[in-house]
Amino acid sequence: MPKNSISESVIKRLPRYYRFLGELMNSGVERISSGQLSELMKLTASQIRQDLNCFGGFGQQGYGYNVAGLREEIGRILGVDRQLPTIIIGAGNLGKAIAAHINFETRGCVLKGIFDIDPKITGETVADIAVRHIDELEKFCRDKKPVVAVLCIPKAATQEIADRLVDLGIRAFWNFSHYDLSAKHSSVAVENVHLGDSLLTLTYRANQMTDNG
Ligand code: NAI
Repeated sequence: MPKNSISESVIKRLPRYYRFLGELMNSGVERISSGQLSELMKLTASQIRQDLNCFGGFGQQGYGYNVAGLREEIGRILGVDRQLPTIIIGAGNLGKAIAAHINFETRGCVLKGIFDIDPKITGETVADIAVRHIDELEKFCRDKKPVVAVLCIPKAATQEIADRLVDLGIRAFWNFSHYDLSAKHSSVAVENVHLGDSLLTLTYRANQMTDNG
């Protein structure tokens, strides 16, 4: 099935399948039934069959799924071997933590540059990469042609930077700044991350549990 005919909700679940199948592979599991996978992933077996039927005949009656084959196919769909050139904008607390702790390569990206506006930070080395001044962005992008940008800058600075980046060929934003990029840049891919929202969801659940017992 062509990639663009896979629904958004299935795409959202693919990284989780990929992660679980990787863990199974690392523990030496070669095949798994949809029932076992559903128990592990807390999804229904029919949901799993439906999802995985979207992209390949990996499931076989009486055999289950070939773990390595299915993981490879999901990785191919996600594009983990594409190694998209990536830059981080903002080398403050968050930008540094992301540069140091996210394994970009295993997620289909390769970190090529880190930029900041503060001359006290430029020149510092983070994840073996020297932080460049934001004034070098245009030249760097012409030379290295990054396509993914991770935004770790204050909200107020985001629009101007995003406009520049789109003009320079950035096609996808991993957006940690609390600024809505999609309103102006509908032609680029945006993945917004709000850790605070995740905590609020947990707060709700914690309160439900406390209130109910
Ligand atoms: P920080 O103040 O430590 O770092 C921000 C960095 O951006 C600074 O080094 C600053 O010099 C740089 N910067 C500012 N304007 C710039 C520009 N025009 N070009 C290049 N660099 C520029 O802040 P922190 O803690 O790293 O957070 C960064 C942003 O991410 C904040 O807006 C914060 O609200 C947000 N944030 C979002 C989270 C989320 O889950 N989405 C979680 C934590 C922070």
